[in-house]
Amino acid sequence: MKILIDGIEIEAQPGETILEAAKRTGIHIPTLCYHEAFGGQGSCRFCMVEVTKNGSSRVVASCTYPVNDGIEVKTSTPQIDKIRRNIAMLLYKRAPNSLFMQTLYKEHLCTENNLTEDPHEKCILCRLCVNACASMGVSAISTVMRGTDKRVATPYDDAAAVCIGCAACAQVCPTGCIEVQEEGNTRRIWNRDFVMVACEDCGKKFATREQLAYIVDKSKQDSPEGELQLCETCRRKVIARKLETFNG
Ligand code: FES
Repeated sequence: MKILIDGIEIEAQPGETILEAAKRTGIHIPTLCYHEAFGGQGSCRFCMVEVTKNGSSRVVASCTYPVNDGIEVKTSTPQIDKIRRNIAMLLYKRAPNSLFMQTLYKEHLCTENNLTEDPHEKCILCRLCVNACASMGVSAISTVMRGTDKRVATPYDDAAAVCIGCAACAQVCPTGCIEVQEEGNTRRIWNRDFVMVACEDCGKKFATREQLAYIVDKSKQDSPEGELQLCETCRRKVIARKLETFNG
């Protein structure tokens, strides 16, 4: 089906969202709570666009709104720019200590002063970290409390017994608010220390012991431990070498 985004005609696939169609064709729509691995959540509203069909227009979240034939999409209008400015302002108010939010605040020409509630806060509650943890099948963190006290935490703020220290939560966090400290062989995250395992080939510390044990347990293979002692880069090299040998 054909849709127009900012005057450019593009071929959209049934089932994809406006954001996915835009990304595929190189059109930028700003997002906060969206991640390719988890799709759209529709919670931050930063990806709002204007959609027009049969002469009537509405503003929708592009990360959850499915494409349909003949729609016209505008990614920037005075109304949308104002929505994004307000969101940037509110989220900056929540997380003023995040460099990411400070940049966003300036980029969107926010002018409101005296917004700070907690000058140390960096989290905007986008829930990407919670989704990342759940997608690993671990669910060591969740949102707790309500209203302005809402935050992401481990149960009772204790060192989570189920956490495997993979740091997927920190990798997807847009505002850099999840602290991961690595020193020597130790990674500290969510109030817990994990021993790091070094790649047998290049020596890079690439995973925690608990992470590898978890993968072994989940994979249910006979003996995957040997392969797991290699970091991603070295594992790819081994696979490439095997393929070369196989192809002669
Ligand atoms: Fe679409 Fe957050 S990116 S609502």
